[in-house]
Amino acid sequence: MLNSIKVALGLLAFASSITNVAAAADVIADFTGAKWIWTPASNAGNYPVGNATFRRDYYPPAGKTPLSANILITTDNAYTLFVNGQKVGTGNDFNQAQRYCVPLVPSCNVFAIEGQNAATVPNPAGALAAIQVRYTDGFTETIVTDSDWHGVTGVPAGFQQVAFDDSNWPAAFDQGPWPTTAPWSNTIAIPPTTSDPGPNLKAATWIWSTQGANANAAIGFVSFRKVVTLPAGQFADTITMDIVADNGYTLYINGLEVGSGTNFNFAQRYQVNFTPSNVVTIAVVGANTGGPAALLASGAISGCTCGCGANAFVSTDSTWKDIAGVPAGFIAPGFDDSAWSAAIVQGPYGMAPWGNVALPTSNTAQNGPIDGAPSAPPASVVA
Ligand SMILES: *[C@@H]1O[C@H](CO)[C@@H](O)[C@H](O)[C@H]1NC(C)=O
Repeated sequence: MLNSIKVALGLLAFASSITNVAAAADVIADFTGAKWIWTPASNAGNYPVGNATFRRDYYPPAGKTPLSANILITTDNAYTLFVNGQKVGTGNDFNQAQRYCVPLVPSCNVFAIEGQNAATVPNPAGALAAIQVRYTDGFTETIVTDSDWHGVTGVPAGFQQVAFDDSNWPAAFDQGPWPTTAPWSNTIAIPPTTSDPGPNLKAATWIWSTQGANANAAIGFVSFRKVVTLPAGQFADTITMDIVADNGYTLYINGLEVGSGTNFNFAQRYQVNFTPSNVVTIAVVGANTGGPAALLASGAISGCTCGCGANAFVSTDSTWKDIAGVPAGFIAPGFDDSAWSAAIVQGPYGMAPWGNVALPTSNTAQNGPIDGAPSAPPASVVA
């Protein structure tokens, strides 16, 4: 089919399906609305052993710009999933669905499934997917496996490419909806909607620049840095960070000032937005006014730029770097901390003398540094 005609049909399809456009919710919950599909040649529900291929060209409605897709998928017996020609993932146990989140392009996006019917004699085969497309305006729309997909027996070369012409492929054969269609009725395990545990101070360790700081440490400042580099091509724009220090701290993200605290019985939580970046620079000034001293922090870094959830977690441990004092300019991204020492772990959350520090139950607003810590422009902190 000519692309111009596809666009026109896409717009027509939108006119009748506009009610599917919903306010952004969490990741798609289950396969509601999805149909088990395979090729048209059904033989009482049994299909020949071998592979079949399915495609869905998705044109966004007028005025909508796709950002990402949350995909829930399973196939009896196995699948390889492609989005816009790129291999996304595989599965080979139809009782266990998988989730994926992938960035989309602003125009047409192509979802393709290479399905495999295993065993030695004809038997049931089906592909099942629900795909939640997130638009730049925060709204979502869900597309599902159904007879809007095209399917053929075999594996045509280049089937997964956007430019591949599937106009002579028949509509995929709709065998019935999840979860009531036999033989797959209600047996599919669906992964939890989120695997993002958020910040977890209980998984962090208390750190300082000297051994035995849990008993006693020099009065004064210790500066800490932790640089998180995301995998190539990934960008983050938010960090949610829980932090507490004995006796006080000031937190900086990417060179901007986030906030401070001076009570080691209570941790604070900051949700900080920043310009999308592949590298996140965390800097902390810790202050000891006497006796024990240590810093405890845990953060979840996420890349909302494509709507695909958390990218990385970070907690205080020996991979943080530290140095006594407050070196000029140390909060800046790109500062050379190669001569700094590895932080010394004092012990886990719950250890004496701090015990079970109260975990945050709400966000803390941006606030100024403790005395002796550098001033910097304020970070964008969500209260
Ligand atoms: C058949 O499909 C499975 C699952 O996608 C795949 O692993 C396998 O390579 C495919 N076989 C051929 C010949 O394409």
